[in-house]
Amino acid sequence: MDPILLETPRLHLRRMTPDDVPALLRVFGDAEVMRFYPAPFDEARMQRWVAWNQQLDAEHGHGLWAVILRATGECIGDCGLVPQQVDGVAEIEIGYHLRRDLWGQGLATEAALGCLNHGMTTFGYRRFVSLIHPQNTASRRVAEKTGMTLEREVEWRNKPVCVYAVERPAA
Ligand SMILES: CC(C)(COP(=O)(O)OP(=O)(O)OC[C@H]1O[C@@H](n2cnc3c(N)ncnc32)[C@H](O)[C@@H]1OP(=O)(O)O)[C@@H](O)C(=O)NCCC(=O)NCCS
Repeated sequence: MDPILLETPRLHLRRMTPDDVPALLRVFGDAEVMRFYPAPFDEARMQRWVAWNQQLDAEHGHGLWAVILRATGECIGDCGLVPQQVDGVAEIEIGYHLRRDLWGQGLATEAALGCLNHGMTTFGYRRFVSLIHPQNTASRRVAEKTGMTLEREVEWRNKPVCVYAVERPAA
């Protein structure tokens, strides 16, 4: 099994592997989780998502990682640091997707804060964004609880998104 990259009180994060596809399909195959995406994923799309994140890891040292619930050892979603271009500027996005039966317990916020700290200490990043559909209230709230504020709204990949951002001074 891949080594643990970061720990929070209730979670472990590690690199995704193809073995995570069934657990991740319980997240990305759920129409409610995917409300702000074009469609829920099928198995082939889920495999491509894992491969994309493995490639990001190989190129940048980070991507979306598997989120493991320490109490049970289950993979319950993903969270991580994704390189993005916004208006031609390179940004590091904190992204997160969690299994629906576990929503509302602060787990996404815990994972996002873990990734933000890891991004600062391991990679030296000082600025992080989240790109969020304006109606995705839960995600906007997670961004706020991670210390982000709404910076602007932009057209991104042909859809409106709120750009939430946080900048941390060098230690
Ligand atoms: C966004 C997501 C990861 C949040 O996961 P979570 O573990 O439930 O998040 P948290 O418990 O840390 O925080 C959620 C916050 O949103 C609030 N919230 C949730 N649904 C809400 C709604 N419909 N209206 C207002 N607030 C809402 C919760 O009350 C909580 O805020 P609080 O702590 O102030 O009460 C989860 O909803 C998800 O997987 N959504 C689908 C995937 C997605 O959209 N990802 C983000 C893409 S930008």
